[in-house]
Amino acid sequence: SKAITRTSVPSLRARKGGEPIVCLTAYTAPMARLLDPHVDLLLVGDSLGMVIYGFDSTLPVTLDLMIAHGGAVVRGSSTACVVVDLPFGSYQESPQTAYRNAARVMAETGAQAVKLEGGLEMAETVAFLTSRGVPVMGHVGLLPQSVNALGGYKAVGRDTASAERIRADACAIAEAGAFSLVIEGTMEPLARQITQDVAIPTIGIGGSPACDGQVLVSDDLLGLFGEFKPKFVKRYANLAETVGQAVATYADEVRSRRFPGPEHCFGVKAPAETG
Ligand code: KIV
Ligand code: NA
Repeated sequence: SKAITRTSVPSLRARKGGEPIVCLTAYTAPMARLLDPHVDLLLVGDSLGMVIYGFDSTLPVTLDLMIAHGGAVVRGSSTACVVVDLPFGSYQESPQTAYRNAARVMAETGAQAVKLEGGLEMAETVAFLTSRGVPVMGHVGLLPQSVNALGGYKAVGRDTASAERIRADACAIAEAGAFSLVIEGTMEPLARQITQDVAIPTIGIGGSPACDGQVLVSDDLLGLFGEFKPKFVKRYANLAETVGQAVATYADEVRSRRFPGPEHCFGVKAPAETG
């Protein structure tokens, strides 16, 4: 019998200031299977609304969609800690609503934690969830679910007032009981300062090399998604090009009747070698 245990929330929490925590997004079982051996944490991000559903923001993503993808990622992985994003509208109204929806995510997917966006205004909710058995990952800095309030996806914390606000947000979420904290699209010195100031691991995306871990959208690092590459993305592969070449060859071979060959057909003997 194989008793594979997943990376736990407390073990990640304990890595503050230690070996960097490796995180990537995953939305599907096959991708989760490929990433699982290499990462500490798989994040089922609501970025899936933009990356695989073609919406122009994360706002249309529903709880049911997150649960469907969260379950797929849990089934496809065996060792990574799986964290599922709470989508827009599922947690902002009250701690009670957040709990009801987070409990569905936990019970119906098998994930170990949820993530939610926000600072001071979400601290009460983070405390409500964490004290009732739902580990929470925080998310401060650039908040994609607030794109309409922000007016776009621009890095934040440029002036002293906003930097101080974001720092206070980070401290409030950490003190409310979050086990780790994503810092997105934030001026590097501020992300570095927050990492020093909070007792929990920070996970950067457009944050700082000083963060306790890093996360990227897998489709971005694989070059699968997007004509537009944000500054914080490093492309480690160009799978869009690989897919294009493979599909062009397939199309060619169908049009020229080179595919399928006899070896791909049932009840057809391959012709004997000649010559
Ligand atoms: O939805 C997402 O993919 C995220 C990460 C980029 C942090 O929230
Ligand atoms: Na997200």
